[in-house]
Amino acid sequence: MPFSGDHRSSAQILKRSALCSGLLLVVILLAMTQWVAAENSRCKQMKPSADRPHSVSITDFGAVGDGVTLNTKAFQNALFYLHSFADKGGAQLFVPSGRWLTGSFSLISHLTLSLDKDAVIIGSTDSSEWPIIDPLPSYGRGRELPGGRHQSLIYGNNLTDVIITGGNGTIDGQGGVWWDWFKNKTLNYTRPHLVEFMYSTEVVISNITFVNSPFWAIHPVYCSQVLVQDVTILAPLDSPNTDGIDPDSSSNVCIEDCYISTGDDLIVIKSGWDEYGISFAHPSSNISIHRVVGETGSGAGIAFGSEMSGGISEVKAEGIHLFNSKHGIRIKTSPGRGGYVRNIFISDVTMKDVDIAIRISGNYGEHPGETYDPKVLPIINGITIQDVSGVNISKAGLLEGIRGDNFSDICLTNVVLNVTSHHPWKCSFIEGYANLVSPESCEPLEKTVPDQSSVCYAPDHLQPQLSNGNRLMNPFLRLSSL
Ligand SMILES: *[C@@H]1O[C@H](CO)[C@@H](O)[C@H](O)[C@H]1NC(C)=O
Ligand SMILES: *[C@@H]1O[C@H](CO)[C@@H](O)[C@H](O)[C@H]1NC(C)=O
Ligand SMILES: *[C@@H]1O[C@H](CO)[C@@H](O)[C@H](O)[C@H]1NC(C)=O
Ligand SMILES: *[C@@H]1O[C@H](CO)[C@@H](O)[C@H](O)[C@H]1NC(C)=O
Ligand SMILES: *[C@@H]1O[C@H](CO)[C@@H](O)[C@H](O)[C@H]1NC(C)=O
Ligand SMILES: *[C@@H]1O[C@H](CO)[C@@H](O)[C@H](O)[C@H]1NC(C)=O
Ligand SMILES: *[C@@H]1O[C@H](CO)[C@@H](O)[C@H](O)[C@H]1NC(C)=O
Ligand SMILES: *[C@@H]1O[C@H](CO)[C@@H](O)[C@H](O)[C@H]1NC(C)=O
Ligand SMILES: *[C@@H]1O[C@H](CO)[C@@H](O)[C@H](O)[C@H]1NC(C)=O
Repeated sequence: MPFSGDHRSSAQILKRSALCSGLLLVVILLAMTQWVAAENSRCKQMKPSADRPHSVSITDFGAVGDGVTLNTKAFQNALFYLHSFADKGGAQLFVPSGRWLTGSFSLISHLTLSLDKDAVIIGSTDSSEWPIIDPLPSYGRGRELPGGRHQSLIYGNNLTDVIITGGNGTIDGQGGVWWDWFKNKTLNYTRPHLVEFMYSTEVVISNITFVNSPFWAIHPVYCSQVLVQDVTILAPLDSPNTDGIDPDSSSNVCIEDCYISTGDDLIVIKSGWDEYGISFAHPSSNISIHRVVGETGSGAGIAFGSEMSGGISEVKAEGIHLFNSKHGIRIKTSPGRGGYVRNIFISDVTMKDVDIAIRISGNYGEHPGETYDPKVLPIINGITIQDVSGVNISKAGLLEGIRGDNFSDICLTNVVLNVTSHHPWKCSFIEGYANLVSPESCEPLEKTVPDQSSVCYAPDHLQPQLSNGNRLMNPFLRLSSL
């Protein structure tokens, strides 16, 4: 429960100590890093690896790892060959040390794509090596341009039991050329992702570094049972729309232990766009995020939307450490989206040098066309944000709902921010509760917290009877016992 007694006392200790010194918070940030490394996996329920009885190397198919030879055919031939092992426990495709230039290729079920630690898969800068595929039904068109979209470098459709892993090998999209095409408006189709899975289950992406994605780096869409673990995602802070991980109309997703430094949202949950997302009606739910560290040029650490028309619910994000970023936590929506964002729980967040710590935008805009119905309003309800600390934050919160469509049960508890602006909060068309929030939150959030609060969402594992062993330890509790 977000407002349970033990929590409140630790929060009071925190409030007193945090307010007396910004330096102390820096110490906490450092302590947090150690705490991050020490925790065990919380995605245990998902199978992280499978032994494949059959393995081949990409060199068996004529690939040359000189960074110059185009290996698209070698990847396609290898995967075609490995089809025959699908019903024999699956197969592994190994990519040894080297620089492997390729265009887009499609994976198969019961496959492990395994990279050596010194292997780099490099995306071609020839856009014709990235075929055009249909728009997503929940978007009705390409996200950037009408019509189709470029297929991701590594693509999977209608698959099950697929693993992409390696000893921290690298997948490099050479996005620079795509960012230029985007900026000088010479794209013909929407930019590609580095990895996209559609309609797939039992997908694992682990121990890989992704660099310079043309667009979003990892995009599971219409998927279930997805695990993303121990990945590093890097792109320049000023690169356009280089989101890290975008679970989209997907459920049962677990993301943990990631370092992400990109131009846009580090992790953003989506579910389709306006009338297309509403009629496709495929929500994102049961998404769990733990221990993410990073920075973003223009996005947020954890975000929702702005495409959320199929609905987003039951999302838990814990142990988020952000620095040098535009936003900390963000919900983006607009009239015309429909859908909902509800039952969201975010806790144990530290921020340093962040412009806006918490932002809810009811008027984000961006529509797939003129045909959307502005009277179709999103429902935003049951958003709990607790145990947040921040140093050198410009604004604490811009919390803006929609006139005639209040966003409700927005619950902030134990949110302690060292804010530089004289107007730290701005709130409109929102309702909810604020408890132990500093600087003091805006009027619409009531300071009297109802007893046995049921209005503030907390996931099952935080219900009182379960809370002891299973709960992430608040770093401030450790601090108070020092
Ligand atoms: C915020 O940090 C500054 C610089 O460290 C410090 O002088 C100030 O007292 C802090 N303010 C609060 C409210 O903690
Ligand atoms: C999806 O894959 C299954 C199993 O391989 C196959 O039977 C089915 O036809 C595929 N569906 C589509 C739409 O491709
Ligand atoms: C993986 O590689 C990236 C990029 O070189 C590096 O920043 C990161 O620390 C590495 N991660 C591990 C676990 O070695
Ligand atoms: C746009 O950018 C691409 C990639 O850098 C470049 O090849 C092309 O000449 C540019 N076009 C214009 C019109 O500036
Ligand atoms: C767009 O289409 C034109 C004409 O076919 C082509 O010359 C150009 O290379 C394409 N641009 C991209 C980025 O693919
Ligand atoms: C992934 O990396 C972690 C940390 O470096 C290591 O403990 C784990 O065994 C690796 N997993 C795989 C499948 O390589
Ligand atoms: C939620 O997702 C996890 C995977 O992250 C899965 O193990 C669990 O069974 C799912 N819970 C429900 C209720 O589907
Ligand atoms: C505070 O954060 C801003 C970025 O939001 C940064 O430019 C500035 O240098 C930071 N100030 C200090 C004192 O660290
Ligand atoms: C909407 O919320 C505002 C506070 O943000 C409140 O004053 C107003 O009464 C609410 N409207 C409705 C219809 O509940």
